[in-house]
Amino acid sequence: MEGQTIRAFTSESVAAALVASGERVLSRSLKYHRPRTFFCMEGHCGGCLARIDGVPNLRACQTPCTTGTTIEGQNAYPSPEIDLFGAVDFLFPRGMDHHTLMTGSSILNNLASKVVRQLSGLGKLPATESHELPAVQLERVDVCVIGGGPAGLAAATAAASSGASTLLVDDQLRLGGSLLADPRLGVAVADARVAAAMAAGVRALPRSTAIAFFPEDAPEDGGVLAVATPDHLVRVVARRWVWATGGYAVNLLFADNDRPGVLAARGVGRMLVQHGIAAGERICVVVGKGMDDYANALAEALRGARVDVTTTSADQVERARGRSWVTAVELTSRRRLDCDVVAVAAMPAPASEGPRQQGCRTVLDPARGGFRVIVDRDGRTSTPDVFACGDVCGYVGPMAAATVGARVGGAAAEEALALARELGPIATTAARRGA
Ligand code: FES
Repeated sequence: MEGQTIRAFTSESVAAALVASGERVLSRSLKYHRPRTFFCMEGHCGGCLARIDGVPNLRACQTPCTTGTTIEGQNAYPSPEIDLFGAVDFLFPRGMDHHTLMTGSSILNNLASKVVRQLSGLGKLPATESHELPAVQLERVDVCVIGGGPAGLAAATAAASSGASTLLVDDQLRLGGSLLADPRLGVAVADARVAAAMAAGVRALPRSTAIAFFPEDAPEDGGVLAVATPDHLVRVVARRWVWATGGYAVNLLFADNDRPGVLAARGVGRMLVQHGIAAGERICVVVGKGMDDYANALAEALRGARVDVTTTSADQVERARGRSWVTAVELTSRRRLDCDVVAVAAMPAPASEGPRQQGCRTVLDPARGGFRVIVDRDGRTSTPDVFACGDVCGYVGPMAAATVGARVGGAAAEEALALARELGPIATTAARRGA
């Protein structure tokens, strides 16, 4: 990767540009220096961390390309592809407990501790110091929707259409969520739903992460949601909250499932649908429980893009093969499927941290992906003023998520507007002040 120039479309993610250029390993893992690269393509796995324009540990899949962007690998010498420290993985195949390394002699132990300290940490400090704290903006709205996928777009559109001032917070480079990874829906559907939301009056904060909810901050307003945008912080106060954060792409359990080239099926779908990139030439789709529909749709779309596709069920996969990139999967039947990408279709895990922070009750439901938020028919959670919809309440897929989202957004707006009639409209100030 280093020293080479790659071509990219403006605003395309750095990750997409690298994949399209055939770049593979981006960094090495902290301890065993195993190769690391893209997995989810939606900003949630941390596999694509790289040094971009002198800033360490940026997610390549959430960083847009601009002319002259420089990308460097991390935690490897001399390069992420060929890393001398990768010998650690080879020399300690059963693992290494560095806490007990060379404890027989205090001199050797001090030496070992020094070396371990030198090797720990990911990335080097930024090339330039930053002394400026970001500005802070205050947003007060009737309804705040977190998550710009099918459920969130539908909820925000319904809320704004009812007359509620509505803010939509989304952490991705482009609004659309899982619509942009599903060949049955795709970019045109996502763009149409975004256009409908904007036409209804939704104000969107794209590339913005809901960091945390602070109930003790402005308690008279019910608390504040802190949102980090690319260049400033936003404190959001809302009369009703709608969590539509969807689910995280997860991996399945088999040996060496962390090999580069083992990708989330949704990441492979996102590359194909959003970026027009086939992630590999021979792709093995591994189908987890409850994911047949999506896996079949993806396999069909990949075949349409002239990819050689095989499918196998998750319980048959024993191990991924390959060192710096996957070359095959071995099955329990001792068969071997040669491939250059393994697309893991596992049920997404509900992204329920935000609602849990607001005190919403969850239940562990493995058949729906993990800890899902408990809601009533209209999306009311156990916490007053807080709603949730879509995959964060247990995996339902993008089609059903949109239907539920519209209903929940309407219910949240109804409550917020009833409050407005009682207390008067919420002041939609957007004052900025230094932090
Ligand atoms: S965070 Fe970028 S690929 Fe997962």
